[in-house]
Amino acid sequence: MAVGIDKLGFYTPSLALDLVELAKARGDEPDKYTIGIGQSVQTVVPNYEDVVTMGVNAAKEILTEDDLAKIEMLIFATESGIDNSKSAAVFAQELLGLSPFIRTIEMKQACYAGTYGLMQAKDFVTLHPDKKVLVIAGDIARYGLKTPGEVTQGAGAIAMVVSADPAIATINDDSVYMSRDVADFWRPVDSTTALVDGHLSTDVYKEMFLTLWQRYQEQTGHELADFAGFAFHLPYTKMGKKALDQIMDQADNQQQAFLREQLTASQVYNRQVGNLYTGSVYLALLSLLQQGQLTDGQRLGVFSYGSGAEAELFSLELVPGFDKAVAGQDVLAQLAQRQNVSVAEYEAIFQSQLFDSSKNQESDAPDGTGLCQFVGWQDGQRRYRFS
Ligand code: HMG
Repeated sequence: MAVGIDKLGFYTPSLALDLVELAKARGDEPDKYTIGIGQSVQTVVPNYEDVVTMGVNAAKEILTEDDLAKIEMLIFATESGIDNSKSAAVFAQELLGLSPFIRTIEMKQACYAGTYGLMQAKDFVTLHPDKKVLVIAGDIARYGLKTPGEVTQGAGAIAMVVSADPAIATINDDSVYMSRDVADFWRPVDSTTALVDGHLSTDVYKEMFLTLWQRYQEQTGHELADFAGFAFHLPYTKMGKKALDQIMDQADNQQQAFLREQLTASQVYNRQVGNLYTGSVYLALLSLLQQGQLTDGQRLGVFSYGSGAEAELFSLELVPGFDKAVAGQDVLAQLAQRQNVSVAEYEAIFQSQLFDSSKNQESDAPDGTGLCQFVGWQDGQRRYRFS
């Protein structure tokens, strides 16, 4: 039975920072950011957004009454969760109006957890084909002002409905995966920003992709020519190129040119948003599905990497009519509608986050947006609303 991604929704907050302006403010060459790293704009997170609001807003884009009735599990993948005990999934269940008779859980392993959630969802639906699973992968990538990671910040969430007979893509049973204890990126529980050995992280990412590509080929017999494109985890868009370049010599010139075009298509949205950690690889997938040259039945590779480190490589097969199934959301329009902020405004917003639960504080949530918002702290509890 075919099980896979039936729906794919995306949400990112409404503020944006031009990275040419950030480069000038930091005394860097703009080309380093836009070409060397491959990022043009990053989403800026106002203090009324968090992983719950972003995940709920992404899921609201795609859920129908039928989905609400059939979803029996909500998996929330995040590494920037809002509570050390209670899962973001429980907040999201209530806000989305899902049934009380479902399983809810939060998962963490850096940027990888969304893929674990997707595989769990696939296994569950394979056993229960009349049920659906909602997988949300959302994060705020926050490194700190004036750090090397600052240019790769970003935020957003992806929501995926996994079902039998999916409308977008079947998840093939061909995953290869690996885990190894590496200190390339981490965030201690008392820190609101990530710690990172950026160059080591890039090297481990590349090495794990190459190792898993070789293992994938050994186990499946597939070659590069069998793929119509790849969705890579994109902490910054250049990372996908660094990974793919390692295996490009396995393709002829025509196939190489085609794969490069498809890679560019997969980078369009991430280049405008920045890193959204767990959701990044699935934003790259959405970008490839909407901006790439694809036809029914083609095979796509998905490479998921989470620092620390864990990685997985698997393939998807495009279902007839997938293009119509992903056409509903105009991501480029959504990104264009964001309000640009200056570097000074971004720095003020960065410092305005409400991390202190001991004070009753209200966020700057505006009225009338129709979106889910974090309203603030009350007696140590987080409060949400639809404005
Ligand atoms: P950096 O040291 O500031 O930059 O940090 P650099 O000196 O390495 O330069 C970057 C690139 O710009 C280089 O190209 C330069 O040549 C080029 P490369 O050699 O890499 O191809 N460059 C220029 N190009 C054009 N014109 C110029 C110019 N100047 C330089 N004038 C780094 C860069 C990415 C390390 C930093 O931003 C960082 O630490 N970022 C965060 C960590 C990260 O994103 N790591 C990626 C892999 S790990 C991962 O994906 C997991 C993660 O998502 C977390 C998770 O799993 O939860 C991060």
